[in-house]
Order: sequence, then C-alpha cells, then structure tokens
Amino acid sequence: MKIFLDTADVEEIRQGVAMGVVDGVTTNPSLAAKAGRNFKDVVLEIVEICPGPVSAETVALGADEIVREGRILAKWAPNIIVKVPLMAEGLKAVRQLTSEGIKTNVTLVFSVNQALLAAKAGATFVSPFLGRLDDIGQDGMQMVRETVEVFRNYGLVTEVLAASIRHPLHVTQAALAGADIATMPFKVLGMLVKHPLTDSGLESFLKDWEKVPDAKTVFL
Ligand code: G3P
Repeated sequence: MKIFLDTADVEEIRQGVAMGVVDGVTTNPSLAAKAGRNFKDVVLEIVEICPGPVSAETVALGADEIVREGRILAKWAPNIIVKVPLMAEGLKAVRQLTSEGIKTNVTLVFSVNQALLAAKAGATFVSPFLGRLDDIGQDGMQMVRETVEVFRNYGLVTEVLAASIRHPLHVTQAALAGADIATMPFKVLGMLVKHPLTDSGLESFLKDWEKVPDAKTVFL
C-alpha cells in the first residue's frame, strides 16, 4: 500500500519524504487555509519536495469552471493530480479532464456507489473519507472494503485512496482491505513508526553493546 501525507505543511512533507516512505501528498482547501500561505506557492514547493502524485483541489461548482481550474492546476507541475468533489458537475468535469490526459482524484466520497461513479467517469484516484463516516456512527472501513471489492469485480483501474484517516488502526485496516493508498496526517505517520517494545529493546541493545570488547573501534 502506498502512503500519502494529508497536509499542506511543507515542513511535514519534507520530513516524511526524508523518511523514505512517503509516496505522495493530498491537500484540500481546509489544509490550504491551515498552512496560511498562498496556495500556488505551497503547491509548487510540495511538488519539488515530493516527486509522487500531489493532489490540489478545485473549488468551482460548475463543470466548465472545474475543468478550467483543473487545467490551471495541472499546468503547475506534471505530478499534480486535480482533486474534484463528488457531485454531478464534478463527474462531468472528471470525464473531460481525463479525456485531456489530466489525472484526477475524486474526493468527498462517502458511499460505494459514489466511488463507482467516480471510477466510471475515469478518475485516477477515488477518496473514500472513512474517519468522517466513523464520526457519524457508520463503518467507514466497510465502505473502503466494499469499494475495493467492486473495483476488483469489474477490473476498474481507479486507485482506492483511503482518506480521512485518524489513527494507526485505520492504516492497518485500509491495508487489509486492499486500499491502494492511505493518506494520513503527519502525526499518524509518526505513530506508525513508534512501538514501546522497539524503544526498550533498542535501549537494552545499546547498553549491552558497550560490553563488546571492540565496541568503540569496530566501525572506525
Ligand atoms: O484530505 C481529505 C481527508 O483526508 C480529510 O480528513 O480528517 O478532515 O476528515 P479529515
């Protein structure tokens, strides 16, 4: 499973990419607002730091306007993915952008049927928001599992990008469900690294190492 960072904070992206495990980045208008900088400046920095897919979202509501915004975003860098909200006008725009060779990520997906429509419109990625479904007492992961199954049933090539991930268990479950990608906040990526037994194990290894006769010279 590929790992994307869900942030518009370039420092977080720099650190995640340096760790060697980040395959891409997703942003949205709320994350852009949180960054507090000009959106274009932020995105141009992100695409330099991360060579993988970087999602940047359109904000128009009509298909023609979404397509216009998408064309602008796509010109900024070859690895930009145009993120389009799931709605009838959005699907129309995705079909058009796809026909122009522009890659898209259909976002704000909360049902398997919506995911199926996004795939049929030609989306490169579809983003089921599992955490927000959990928030209202529904099983977000069930939607991810079923979306993966439906796409497999019909050989649909759209990648399932599990989004709105809130904690490490979501990441494990998304991987078990067969999601192609999980996008997560930087904080969650940090949580994946840590385990108390790793920390205590390392501490005792380093302590024991001091007793090895050539401990201080072997790596010189
Ligand atoms: O980028 C979309 C998605 O991951 C948002 O997550 O936590 O705001 O529901 P969240």
